[in-house]
Amino acid sequence: MATYLITGIAGFIGSNIARALLARGESVRGVDNFVTGKRANLEDLPGIDFVEGTIEDPAVCACVCKGIDYIFHEAALASVPRSVADPVSTNANNVTGTLNLLVAARDAGVKRIVYAGSSSAYGDQPTLPKQEDMVPDPISPYAVSKLTGEQYLRSFSRVYGMETVTLRYFNVFGPHQDPSSQYSGVLAKFSLGMLEGRTPVIFGDGSQSRDFTFIENVVEANLAAMHAPADKVSGKVFNVATEQRITLNDAVNILRELTGYTGPVEYAPPRTGDIAHSLADISRARAAFGYAPKVDFHEGIRRTLNWYRGLTAAVR
Ligand code: UD1
Repeated sequence: MATYLITGIAGFIGSNIARALLARGESVRGVDNFVTGKRANLEDLPGIDFVEGTIEDPAVCACVCKGIDYIFHEAALASVPRSVADPVSTNANNVTGTLNLLVAARDAGVKRIVYAGSSSAYGDQPTLPKQEDMVPDPISPYAVSKLTGEQYLRSFSRVYGMETVTLRYFNVFGPHQDPSSQYSGVLAKFSLGMLEGRTPVIFGDGSQSRDFTFIENVVEANLAAMHAPADKVSGKVFNVATEQRITLNDAVNILRELTGYTGPVEYAPPRTGDIAHSLADISRARAAFGYAPKVDFHEGIRRTLNWYRGLTAAVR
């Protein structure tokens, strides 16, 4: 039987991939240092082999890669503004950590590694939709770190013949996303906040748009990319999104309807390193591994709100 390693297993995306693998009866090991991951995310992952540690330590990487067939590499310090405030930590985790993991995976004979890339690699180019063959133009240190990680994957594929795949995620949201940090994704913050009657603060005029992607679509893309024929995916980069663009103002209006929030919306200056519009072309992923997003924005946000409702009920 195959054994999977998930880095960042206590995080939003890592824990959701783990749930899907366990549901299929797979054997799962996970590593997390709990800097942004949550112990609570491990509670419904029975039977995983868990190692607490950081991928910034090569010894941790060597230990967790032993006996592993496939790696989903989700560990990262996410967030554009966090990277603007502290580019060195972002680089240490996202770049050095990824390089350490690749070296350990190579030495352990891992069959394939699928990596959490980011739509931020495209930067603020006006051309929409974003296609994978566009020249990257990262703006924030976060975008640089994620792009560097994917270039290391490509390099390891070319130089050492490893099977590596990059999935460029477009603004993922859904259950288990942490809503509580200043660096949390906007939909996580606004969903819980508006359910609890707190005023959403929009940075800029709210006309910026994102191809918000529900987590289940991202999990499916990962599982499909891991087992697609190597000649279709190895050494390559794929957008993972929905091809639907929603402005922040529209997202807030949808959340108003679904949460019953009737209070004000506050507008604050735009965030440094922010980009205006993001929309993907997903035809490459569709052709290579049959990716087809099953859950659209509206359904995804409904399911997300249900999950946050459960959280607030549990706290009371
Ligand atoms: C970026 C990447 C995304 C990546 C994420 C990791 C792009 C297009 N997307 O997301 O792929 O996964 O980093 O963190 O580069 N905002 C508010 N109020 C808030 C919080 C955010 O108005 O309280 C605004 C932001 O200014 C931004 C939008 O909401 O315009 C989305 O922000 P966020 O959820 O942090 O993600 P991105 O920075 O777009």
